Amino acid sequence: MTVSNARGLQTTLTAGAPLGVGLRLLQPNDAPAVQAVFAGLGPQSRWLRFLSGKPALTDADLRQLTSVDGWTHLAVVASTLTSQQPIGIARFVRDRLDAGSAEVALAVVDAWQRRGIGGLLADCLIACAVAVGVRRLTMTVSAENAGVRALLDRSQLEVTRMDLGFGVWEYAVALERPWDDQARRSQPGRSGARPVDAGRPRPTIAPETVDPSAA
Ligand SMILES: CC(C)(COP(=O)(O)OP(=O)(O)OC[C@H]1O[C@@H](n2cnc3c(N)ncnc32)[C@H](O)[C@@H]1OP(=O)(O)O)[C@@H](O)C(=O)NCCC(=O)NCCS
Repeated sequence: MTVSNARGLQTTLTAGAPLGVGLRLLQPNDAPAVQAVFAGLGPQSRWLRFLSGKPALTDADLRQLTSVDGWTHLAVVASTLTSQQPIGIARFVRDRLDAGSAEVALAVVDAWQRRGIGGLLADCLIACAVAVGVRRLTMTVSAENAGVRALLDRSQLEVTRMDLGFGVWEYAVALERPWDDQARRSQPGRSGARPVDAGRPRPTIAPETVDPSAA
């Protein structure tokens, strides 16, 4: 995939080295990586990831989870640097009706959870999303999902939350381009932290940030 305006993306893709982890973009022939990460999730993690008890991935699941094009569907894989074992995947899929918005899912194998991999994947996915013009990320998760809550708190991004009922929440995260962030911080009286504010309007899509021919 080529992302012409992916400032800092290469740096982000190599940011895992101190943890002994490499990041790369998932490719359509990466079904073994998808299977490996799924196999490393216990029942609770599978439930949190798929919001259903999922004993195995079907062929249709695998097709869908590897149907990446780097534009409407982009995924990042974390693997150990020593054995190249896939240990986590984060992805976004664009909304069909709103190309500036995309739904996120991520999972880190149980043995590697709480070691910074989820945060690393989230940072990388956000950098990729910004690079290809996504301005809003949503996540549909269990209200009990403390890991996602902690990841969102740590991101310092502007997060809104909607209760979808049945113990499921939708989080929406407004993304900023680095130059927006700089402009925002240079405004007097603005701090870096962005609080949760359920009343905030959806951000508009800035067309100049995207270059479809580069996907
Ligand atoms: C959510 C998930 C991806 C987080 O990955 P991770 O590698 O454990 O995350 P990190 O190690 O980067 O942790 C990031 C923060 O979350 C916190 N955290 C992670 N899991 C947590 C948990 N179960 N309870 C409370 N806090 C948790 C960490 O302490 C850390 O906080 P800190 O920065 O203040 O120290 C991982 O727990 C997972 O795969 N869960 C199952 C699937 C899932 O829930 N996916 C999301 C919905 S699609």
